Amino acid sequence: MTRKTAADLKRDAAIKALEFVEDGMKLGLGTGSTAEAFLEVLAPKVRGGLNIMGVPTSERTAQRCRELSIPLGSLEQLAPLDLTIDGADETDRSLNLIKGGGGAHLREKIVAISSKRMVVIADKSKLVRRLGKFPLPVEVIPYGKSTTLGRMRAAFAKLGYGDVAVTLREKDGEPFKTDSGNIVFDCAFGAIQNAPKLAAALDGITGVVEHGLFIGIASALVIAGPKGADVITRR
Ligand code: A5P
Repeated sequence: MTRKTAADLKRDAAIKALEFVEDGMKLGLGTGSTAEAFLEVLAPKVRGGLNIMGVPTSERTAQRCRELSIPLGSLEQLAPLDLTIDGADETDRSLNLIKGGGGAHLREKIVAISSKRMVVIADKSKLVRRLGKFPLPVEVIPYGKSTTLGRMRAAFAKLGYGDVAVTLREKDGEPFKTDSGNIVFDCAFGAIQNAPKLAAALDGITGVVEHGLFIGIASALVIAGPKGADVITRR
C-alpha cells in the first residue's frame, strides 16, 4: 500500500465532509489548501445537480469557486448560513482552533459565527494536545500599529506570557495586507495555557480587528489519518 500524502489526507477529509452537505443548503466556504480540497469535491456534486449557494471567506476562495462554477452569494444576502466548512492551522480535541495562516481569519470567523454549524476539516498533523505551536495570527488596523502591539504585549505579559516573539507578516518584502486592508502580527506562544482567556484579552484591545483563536465555534471536526477520516463532535 502506498503511503498517503498530506494532499491525499486533505482530500479524504473533504470527501467525508460532503456527508454534512444537504440539497438546498447555504454554505460558508473556508480558505486554505484543505478548504480548496473541499471545493474540488463539491464542484462535481454541483455539476451533478446539487443545489447549494456558497459564501466565500476570501477573495482567493471566491476566485476558485468562480473557476469551478460553484454558485456564490454574499453573506448579507444569505445569512444565516446552514453550514461552514473550513480548515484550521491547529485544533485541539475540544475543537478550539488556531486559524489565519492564510490571513483570512476575520472573514472566516464572521462567516462561521453566521452559520448554524461549522465543520472543520484537517489532516492529523493539525490535531494538537495544546494550541500555540503555530504562531497565532492577529489582524490589526495599520494606523498606530506599534501602539496596538504595545497593548498586545502588555496583555500577554499580564497573562504570564513573558516571551512572545511577534513578527509582522510580510509578502514580497512588504507588509502582508488582508482582504480588508489590515496587517497581521504572528505571535509565537509555543504553548497557550488558557486559550479562552487569551482570546478574551485580545478581543478587548483597541486596534486589534480579529485574532485567529476560534473558541467554541466549531461543532464538528473531520480529521483524516492514514486509516481514514474520523468525525469528532463537540459536546
Ligand atoms: C486561512 O486564513 C486559514 O485560517 C486556513 O483555514 C488555515 O490556515 C488552514 O489552511 P491549510 O488548509 O492550507 O493548512
